[in-house]
Amino acid sequence: MTQKEPNHQIWLECAACGHRVPFTRPLRACEKCGHGWLDARYDYDAVRERWPAVLRERPFDMWRYRELLPLRDDAYKVTMGEGGTPLLHATNLGLMLGCPHIYVKDERQGPTGSFKDRQASLAISVMKEHGITEAIVASTGNVAISYSAYSALAGIKMWTFLTSLVPSEKMQEVALYGSEVIKVTATYDQTKKVAADFAARKGIFLDRGIRGISARESMKTVAFEIAEQLPMLIGPSPEGGDGGAPWRAPDWYFQAVSGGMGPVGVWKAYEELMTLGLVDHMPKLACIQAAGCAPMVNSFDKGLEEAEPVLNPQTRVITIATGSPGPAYSFLIRVIREHGGAFEAVTDEETFRAMHVMAKLDGISMEPAAATAFAGLFKLLSKGVIQRDEIIVVNCSGHTFPVEKHLLGDEWARTVELPTETPAVEEGLLGSLEQLDGRVQSIAIIEDDPQARLLLRRILQTRGEYRVFEAPDGVAGLEMVRREHPDIILLDLMMPGMDGFEVLEALKADEQVRDVPVIVISAKELTAAERERLSGQIDMLMQKGNFTDEELLEEILKRAG
Ligand SMILES: Cc1ncc(COP(=O)(O)O)c(C=O)c1O
Ligand SMILES: [Zn+2]
Repeated sequence: MTQKEPNHQIWLECAACGHRVPFTRPLRACEKCGHGWLDARYDYDAVRERWPAVLRERPFDMWRYRELLPLRDDAYKVTMGEGGTPLLHATNLGLMLGCPHIYVKDERQGPTGSFKDRQASLAISVMKEHGITEAIVASTGNVAISYSAYSALAGIKMWTFLTSLVPSEKMQEVALYGSEVIKVTATYDQTKKVAADFAARKGIFLDRGIRGISARESMKTVAFEIAEQLPMLIGPSPEGGDGGAPWRAPDWYFQAVSGGMGPVGVWKAYEELMTLGLVDHMPKLACIQAAGCAPMVNSFDKGLEEAEPVLNPQTRVITIATGSPGPAYSFLIRVIREHGGAFEAVTDEETFRAMHVMAKLDGISMEPAAATAFAGLFKLLSKGVIQRDEIIVVNCSGHTFPVEKHLLGDEWARTVELPTETPAVEEGLLGSLEQLDGRVQSIAIIEDDPQARLLLRRILQTRGEYRVFEAPDGVAGLEMVRREHPDIILLDLMMPGMDGFEVLEALKADEQVRDVPVIVISAKELTAAERERLSGQIDMLMQKGNFTDEELLEEILKRAG
């Protein structure tokens, strides 16, 4: 049973002329001037008064913010526990990149595995409230999956138009929910047009995506949740002070964008939270696109006020392959010019690498569209656009099953063949298993920070080829090197007791181990005198938080490979 909340007042306001009408039915355009962009408005004074008491009583899901959602009557709510997703601290990634505040908004935990579940829940609820029993949606996959699940629950017939590039596993999931699946052998933009024509001809309700109210409004809940979760993880805003903002906006919100609905909704949410006095600043939006289909990034770089479409998208990340982003672009450039932010493009290779890094380092497996956002983060960090101590939240959505078969290559598993004849089975099995451990190189890590040791070990382990020894201080490290004769040493400099400089001197004075290559990994900016002390003694100096797993492995391979 859902709890009955009192109906609340919602208006549609024209973005061009400001004309307002009560929201009682879907409107395609302003009744006064014909403009196509209408925004939902609420009674913010009432919300300001009501929220402190009611939010305390409500579960942590997207409907807790229902006063700022355009469904009038809870009786029509179609819900499966969407929203309320965890905000995970990306510890290992943060350690590798030298960023202590990277958080992952884990939208994978929605009912169908993407943040589009919020959109589906609200859009299908509003359809139900407005008496719609049949609808059409065009999609690059995730929206169709989500709408299909929720429309099944709501008893609404759903026609889904998908570009034929969508992985067949995703299409099958749509079909499983009982939707009509129309596969269009064309780009997503052409598919949208086919869907709109079909809707017009048949007189069936067409979901208008970002031009509709529900879609944008639903995305606000991602931001509301983040603002409530951040203070629990890192405390309130420092500027907040007494009576200051009780919730907290991140410095950056990262998302892979196609139509841009997510960032538009997130922006509106923080604007509303500012109005309510719940946060004290707007976040910077980072909109990341695939290089082969990056109309927003290209148009921003060219200084255009309207997005120039990409007619022939060239990317394997189909979920975000929208060549013609429509109205969101003009909106987002204004926001980014005013509050800061970035449009950035990443190659598919960078996306797939980020996908692999996030799974290997922090155990978070995501679909490519989400990995695009992480690849964008890596890029903007290396460009120096983001300060390493800023608070960064990345929207991580998507199905975790790897439908992208090429990602791991052909050798992602090793087969153990049981011999059928003598010798005895156990011996044969043990023999086969023995061969799995083909580690030839050994690596010594001398580092006092256990977290940093763990990260280095983890990076090496994912290659499976290294035997790793660790020591927490200089004395133990020296002893370990003399005992194990590793092929390479990873050495920290700042350690209590015997520091890295002294370890190095002792190593170089010892005939038995002086030839073992040393890579110094230091958190410290070195002085000229310190550099002088290291020169000629070490093989490589790497700055903590300033290299990726790939770069480290490359350096090791060069020396010990
Ligand atoms: C996982 C994922 N990331 C990003 C996007 C792009 O979303 P937006 O509509 O906000 O541009 C989608 C859209 O379906 C998606 O499913
Ligand atoms: Zn108007």
